[in-house]
Amino acid sequence: MAGRITLTMIKPHAIENGNLGNILAKIIEAGFRISGMKLMRLSLKQAQEFYKIHEEHDFYKPLTEFMSNGPIVAAILEKDDAVEDFRKLIGATDPSKADEGTIRRLFGQSTKENAVHGSDSDENAKIEADFFFSLLERY
Ligand code: CMP
Repeated sequence: MAGRITLTMIKPHAIENGNLGNILAKIIEAGFRISGMKLMRLSLKQAQEFYKIHEEHDFYKPLTEFMSNGPIVAAILEKDDAVEDFRKLIGATDPSKADEGTIRRLFGQSTKENAVHGSDSDENAKIEADFFFSLLERY
C-alpha cells in the first residue's frame, strides 16, 4: 500500500513573490492535511544535505545556493497516496512543461525556481520528513 505522507518545501522565490498563501490554499483544497509545518532559512550545508542525491548534477550548486538564500516553508502533508497525488498537483519539474492549473505551472519560474518541492517516493518522503521534523513537531 502507498504511504500516507509526503514532504514539501515552498521555495524562496514563491514566498518572496507573495504566493505562500495561494500555494497552501491549493494544497488544502486538494485534500491534504498539514501534519507539520515550519518557516525557516536553510543553511547552505543543510540544503546540500537535503539535495545530496543530486550532488553529481550541474544544477546542484545553483540549486543549493538558491534554496539557502531565502525563506522556505517545509511541511509534512498527509493523504492516501500522498506522494503520487502531490506530484500530480504540482506538475512537471520544469514549470513550462507542467499541466495547466498545477502549482508549478501557476507559480514556478524555471526548473530551479519551480515553486515547490515534492518527495519522489514513499521512502524519500520518510527520510525528508525526518530531516525537518521531530516527533514533537508533528500532529
Ligand atoms: P525539487 O522537486 O526540489 O527536486 C530537485 C530539484 O532540482 C528540482 O525540484 C529542481 O528545482 C532542481 N532541478 C532538477 N533538474 C534541474 C535542471 N535541469 N536545472 C536546474 N534545476 C533542476
